[in-house]
Amino acid sequence: MAPRFFIKTFGCQMNEHDSEKMAGVLLSCGFERAESEKEAEVIILNTCAVREKPVNKVYSELGRFKKTDKIVGVCGCVAQKEKKRLMERMPHVKFVIGPRNIYKIGEAVSKAFEGKKSLFVEQNGRCPITDLSYPVSRNNPYRAYITIMEGCDNFCSYCIVPFVRGREVSRPSRDILEEARRLADEGYREITLLGQNVNSYGKGLEEKIDFAKLLEKLHEIDGIEWIRFITSHPKDFSERLIEAVTTLPKVCEYIHLPAQSGSDRILELMNRKYTRQKYLEIIEKIKGAGKYFAFTSDFIVGFPTETEEDFEMTLDLIKEVEYEGVFAFVYNPREFTKACSWEDDIPLQVKKERLKRLLEVQDEITQKMSKSYIGRVVDVLFEDFDEENGELLGRTRTFKMVKVKGDKSHLGNIVKIKITDAKMYELRGEMAGR
Ligand code: SAM
Ligand code: SF4
Ligand code: F3S
Repeated sequence: MAPRFFIKTFGCQMNEHDSEKMAGVLLSCGFERAESEKEAEVIILNTCAVREKPVNKVYSELGRFKKTDKIVGVCGCVAQKEKKRLMERMPHVKFVIGPRNIYKIGEAVSKAFEGKKSLFVEQNGRCPITDLSYPVSRNNPYRAYITIMEGCDNFCSYCIVPFVRGREVSRPSRDILEEARRLADEGYREITLLGQNVNSYGKGLEEKIDFAKLLEKLHEIDGIEWIRFITSHPKDFSERLIEAVTTLPKVCEYIHLPAQSGSDRILELMNRKYTRQKYLEIIEKIKGAGKYFAFTSDFIVGFPTETEEDFEMTLDLIKEVEYEGVFAFVYNPREFTKACSWEDDIPLQVKKERLKRLLEVQDEITQKMSKSYIGRVVDVLFEDFDEENGELLGRTRTFKMVKVKGDKSHLGNIVKIKITDAKMYELRGEMAGR
């Protein structure tokens, strides 16, 4: 029997998709997928370095495997951050592979079986994306991720991502369109375009293209019904893009637009390159275009020098936008970043208290926004079936989870559902027209 691998993924959608790519490469090399960690001969941790917590988790996970005879490797952002240091600290680790080298996973695993160690990391150069010929083993048969760019050039003062994911590089549109067409042929209904800053797409490419144009081109592909993208940056949300997202019917009414703070002073220190007013203008223009749009966001609380007044401006922004949900984090100094050299002057107690207050404000809004779905008829793409309860699981165009009693025949279909009940993160409904 071929050796079996198990990939444990931490971090963002980019990492989730990288794990799908690594699984594709390993399967094509003849390895098999294990159903659980226990059954696997090869354990791969695809890691996240954005905050200290996920990094610590990696080290504690690695500690667990010290005494096993399993082959253990580390990929992703911690691998790129720690490089050789990781192997020195954890000698049982057989390979360390940064995000831009994940295609070497087959080679690294094969070498590990010969008792050899591998280190594949980048020096953060502007390396082109050349991944097209590699197979991808996708986790979902109806919704697919497509990488449109790698890396980030924004250098927000708190963020380690540009240092571990390298410089921003866009993928040629021809390759993206080819992948989308192939996905449509394979029966995928929805695509999510991935990048740390998708709306600066096109920078550095020879062809004359921007993100709005890419959306228009993808829109023409028959079979792809819904298009999403993550993450867009407020500084690059042009009028052209607002026009595209509000008028192209396949572009879903869901926008994750991280604000990070509601205070202009903090936004400037964060090097975000937009003001609160500019941010609100984008939201208002999209809301004003005549369709209901769901917004979500990321926030950091307790950034160096953040006063109670700054924080209240963040709360105020949250109330004004009425997000369907937010991800909020306590500021955590990260190696290499500009803010890391500043005093981390907000006591942890204060940071935690602000986070709690922020989440309380948001929870109330999330409840309200969820309840507002009751009585509405919405399109849902069903992607999973819960055998035990006889329930279909799917998502609305606004990315809300919906559960409906039904049968498997609706899997992969977009169905009109009347929403009858709403919890914070989950809606319930019935087939409309019954
Ligand atoms: N590229 C996206 C953007 O511009 O918003 C996402 C970047 S990051 C992978 C995801 C989120 O982690 C950020 O939006 C930010 O809220 C949070 N984050 C990044 N660095 C952080 C830090 N040092 N401390 C706390 N949260 C952080
Ligand atoms: Fe980090 Fe800013 Fe780049 Fe997002 S845009 S990945 S927050 S540096
Ligand atoms: Fe984490 Fe790397 Fe994503 S640091 S959030 S896995 S880009």
